[in-house]
Amino acid sequence: YTLEIPWGQSAEKGESMAVKIIGTGSALPKKVVSNEEMAGLVETSDQWIRERTGIGSRHISTGETVVSLAVEACEKALAHGDRKASEVQLILVATCTPEKGIPCAACQVQSLLGAAEAVAFDLNAACAGFLFALHTAHAYIEAGIYDNALVVGSEVLSKVVDWTDRGTCVLFGDGAGAVLLERSGQPGILGFVQHSDGTKGGVLQCDGRKLENPFVSLPVGNPFLSMDGREVFAFALRQVPACIWEALSQAKLSPEDVDLYVLHQANRRIIEGIAGRMNLEAARFPMNLERTGNMSSASIPVLLDELVREGRLQEGMTLVLSGFGAGLTYGACVLKWQRSLDFSGEIGIVKESVRGDRGAGKKVQAAGWGGTGIILSMRCW
Ligand code: UT7
Repeated sequence: YTLEIPWGQSAEKGESMAVKIIGTGSALPKKVVSNEEMAGLVETSDQWIRERTGIGSRHISTGETVVSLAVEACEKALAHGDRKASEVQLILVATCTPEKGIPCAACQVQSLLGAAEAVAFDLNAACAGFLFALHTAHAYIEAGIYDNALVVGSEVLSKVVDWTDRGTCVLFGDGAGAVLLERSGQPGILGFVQHSDGTKGGVLQCDGRKLENPFVSLPVGNPFLSMDGREVFAFALRQVPACIWEALSQAKLSPEDVDLYVLHQANRRIIEGIAGRMNLEAARFPMNLERTGNMSSASIPVLLDELVREGRLQEGMTLVLSGFGAGLTYGACVLKWQRSLDFSGEIGIVKESVRGDRGAGKKVQAAGWGGTGIILSMRCW
């Protein structure tokens, strides 16, 4: 367990402005829809869906919204990080399925959380959205503008899916994941790349509102998601390994140095194909798509939160996160996991202060307790 700089204190000139994740949370709608149920809606089968995608079921909203799921995920991330909503300085919600055009989902989340001091805005980069938002928050914190941020991926894709199109409706699910970031004295994010290719935007799209005013009325587009699945599949296999290599070379690491690859959960065959192209065993690529389907921007943070709560992330592990999807957008991030313990069931032991002798002699107190008496976090002042 490592003591960190006190919450809210800005780094001084010349000090490291690195950023780390101190809390994670996720939320899924209550209703689970199995492949067998999907076969009652369109001409498909459990066998086809499992063999071609790896998906067995997905959570579908029966009232949960992008905002309500995001709020639940944020509350869990704040509890995990032992921070209050009133302390949050930035909220970024990555979503391509907001309920409202105006105001943005992030402002609604801010209001419901009671994060009165936070600046809040949305970001849409589809399935790479969470990664792009993470990079944006990282840049703000690194630049010294904010000390912390809630970064959220939240989607209710079931409202834009064409439930008569078997080629797409079996793939997607609803959910939200959030991480709480704050400035750290140790390097957390080691490499980060992101790319966009708008020339290929037509392979995965969904039209918005039509233009209708007193001067013009244009035809309505397709308000449902349409996709050239084979093109997206080929793009992912081509570009994702390349951008992971790029992020790894920034971090001066090789693929073997990475403990876990937390990839966007689009299709098991895509993830295994990427592992194969990188000459890595598939075991390094955890997956939850069997239970969740593709949740676009929510896939990576939900999987990350599940790994944390299963105790699979240990302090010092190297992770790669990579997202890819509509836009086309894609990116990768290499990070050192600095947060351990909280759900693993051990008592934390203070090893050192990242601020050197400035931490020495400070009082230490357990500030949060788990249901079984486990220390969840410690404070130093
Ligand atoms: O989040 C990022 C965005 N999305 C993705 O990453 C998705 C990327 N693409 C994929 O995952 C795959 O391309 C799909 C899962 C969408 C499709 O798998 P595929 O192996 O590329 O299938 P296909 O589109 O080539 O279709 C093969 C056959 C077709 O029948 P015919 O023409 O060979 O007779 C389809 O009509 O499978 C048929 N098919 C289905 N059959 C049963 C397509 N969807 C279904 C279905 N059930 N749900």
